[in-house]
Amino acid sequence: MLIAGNWKMYKGPAETAEFCLGLREQELTGVDLVVCPPFVSLAVAVQLLAGTEIAVAAQNVHWDAEGAYTGEVSAEMLRELGVYGAIVGHSERRQYFGETDDTVARRVHAALEAGLFVIACIGETEAERGQGATEDVLRRQLAVLEPDDNLVLAYEPVWAIGTGKTATPGTAQESHAFVKSLLDAPVLYGGSVKPDNAAELLAQPDVDGALVGGASLELESFTAICRAASHS
Ligand code: 13P
Repeated sequence: MLIAGNWKMYKGPAETAEFCLGLREQELTGVDLVVCPPFVSLAVAVQLLAGTEIAVAAQNVHWDAEGAYTGEVSAEMLRELGVYGAIVGHSERRQYFGETDDTVARRVHAALEAGLFVIACIGETEAERGQGATEDVLRRQLAVLEPDDNLVLAYEPVWAIGTGKTATPGTAQESHAFVKSLLDAPVLYGGSVKPDNAAELLAQPDVDGALVGGASLELESFTAICRAASHS
């Protein structure tokens, strides 16, 4: 069971330090943990979580090792910093920053080649679900990916992100089973995971963990979700 906290554009280095020092103190066994701070906070997270089992991942990664790409960061640079992995293809990147299935594929490929662990995100919008297109969307998003020991998928229905509208455990299970029928990889669920719904979602046979946004920002709610995961 893997629980990853995607902090999005929250927590600069000072807040990151405070969170990591608090997280170190927790007794969290039986669950793999990853925190994904913004780029500027990665170094302090790596430093303060060194010697623990908690991994640090970035929220994006470029496909080239270096080059004239203003605003981008490469897998090699992340590796140099001691970063373990990266999220790729989050729906917010697809929605606001022009990420496409093609750029997702390039980022995932380069990150895996460089030895990073990757959490690749997929998921349908509310309109796509309404049109009955969920499976087509997932099929299209997965078509550019290949199984890899260091690849984990995150099924994040866009309509459930930051909305408080969690997928029911049944809906999550159905989508996860479909995803796994197309690509053999662990699948995390993401979208309004909270301490009070985590256990039920994580109890589904094809839910292998969670990618948590809002509830990963407070130590108390994040650790409550991690505890729910260690019991399931
Ligand atoms: P929330 O948990 O805030 O809905 O965000 C989910 C998400 O986007 C994680 O990547």
